Amino acid sequence: MDMKDTQRQRWVLILIMTGVGLVMTLASIFVLYQTAFEEERSRLVEVAQSQARLMEAVARFDMQYSHNYPEGTEAATLSQFIDAHKKFEGFGKSGEFLLARKQDNQIVFILSHKHTDLMIPKALPLDSPLGKPIQRALMGESGTMVSPDYRNVEVLAAYEPINILNLGLVAKIDLQEIRAPFYRAGLMALGIGFAVISVGAVLFWKVSDPLIREITSSREQLRSLAQRLQDIREEEKERIARAVHDELGQQLTAIQLELNYLEEELKPSAPAEQLEESFESMSRLIDTTINSVQQISTELRPQILDVFGLGEALLWQVQDYQSRSGTRFDTTRIDTQIHLDRDRSITLFRVFQETLTNIYRHAKASEIAIALEQKNNSIHLKVRDNGIGIPLAKIRSPKSLGLLGIRERLLAWNGTMDITSQPGKGTTVTVHIPLGDS
Ligand SMILES: Nc1ncnc2c1ncn2[C@@H]1O[C@H](COP(=O)(O)OP(=O)(O)OP(=O)(O)O)[C@@H](O)[C@H]1O
Ligand SMILES: [Mg+2]
Repeated sequence: MDMKDTQRQRWVLILIMTGVGLVMTLASIFVLYQTAFEEERSRLVEVAQSQARLMEAVARFDMQYSHNYPEGTEAATLSQFIDAHKKFEGFGKSGEFLLARKQDNQIVFILSHKHTDLMIPKALPLDSPLGKPIQRALMGESGTMVSPDYRNVEVLAAYEPINILNLGLVAKIDLQEIRAPFYRAGLMALGIGFAVISVGAVLFWKVSDPLIREITSSREQLRSLAQRLQDIREEEKERIARAVHDELGQQLTAIQLELNYLEEELKPSAPAEQLEESFESMSRLIDTTINSVQQISTELRPQILDVFGLGEALLWQVQDYQSRSGTRFDTTRIDTQIHLDRDRSITLFRVFQETLTNIYRHAKASEIAIALEQKNNSIHLKVRDNGIGIPLAKIRSPKSLGLLGIRERLLAWNGTMDITSQPGKGTTVTVHIPLGDS
């Protein structure tokens, strides 16, 4: 059971390490992507703005000096521009440069320069959900955005109006193109990460294995040592109890009888009152000594447990407790008909004693309810008090030696203890021991 717990914890540890590794990798790739994205954005802005300003300058020049161009000065500017675009390559694989004008509620494209292709896309309605960047440029705005372009492909676009010619200009690149290298890097990092983590996990497992085995075995050794000590204590108590009861008790009784006899013999010859008094006081002394001997031997090893069984022993213990405190007890759910083997009985009895002592010392309870029942082939002992409650931290604290002792005792029978408690509302200790042959 403990070993399984440790194994599970080791898996959790490995999972945590894996998680941390993956999150770190993905986070750094994301940060790199963000940086690349911002760089791309400023490059597009630069391209769009410099082209727009250049075109405006050329247009101003043509308005003054190109009056003899057959299709007019605007056409002169555009033709120079298209000519210029024919002579240089576009940017990136999907980078595109767009020029359009507004005409009859439509966006009419004048130029699309993508890599080395020059072409003219089909006109779009002015309120189309596509081509938002060019729409903005045509409204005289300038900026950048991520949105679907006229082909309905997500792009990062910089838009810019060309005021003199009433044109809009867009420089854009497919988001896919910006992202692709990072997807590739991500996949690669994940692959390498998994390989490294797997190797790390195997090493971790190998290194921690002997450690854990050692801890587990020393824990088992301690446990059996503790168990052995408990057994020895019980055996010793029983031996002392028997010795005290049988030998001391009998010897005292013999003295008592002897004394009675002497008293009878001496009475006629020495009628002194003094003599009688001293006999009486000696006799009283011996009586109380006999009582003490009985009490001591019962405390060491309650005979009642062996003779009348666990249920009666609990009731007897309750009576004893009640004579020392004013606590009210509900004992109606103690089943006195349960027949339990000697060793389990003594375990449960000692657990009960420790529980009662704890209530007496810590709980400040005025009512205690006890249940002892046999259910589903196991014995259940439940002690509920209405005291101040146990702080949660104390339940599992390694410093709670009393509670630890209870758990250790129960472990020998595969038994368990469960403590539930609410501050101010008391504590319930539930103990159960299976009746198998373990
Ligand atoms: N019924 C209870 N009500 C309130 N607090 C309790 C109760 N039982 C135990 N406690 C708290 O839990 C702690 C641990 O109990 P535990 O029996 O392990 O140690 P202890 O009684 O203090 O010392 P000992 O080792 O002598 O038993 C106690 O110190 C007490 O604060
Ligand atoms: Mg205690």
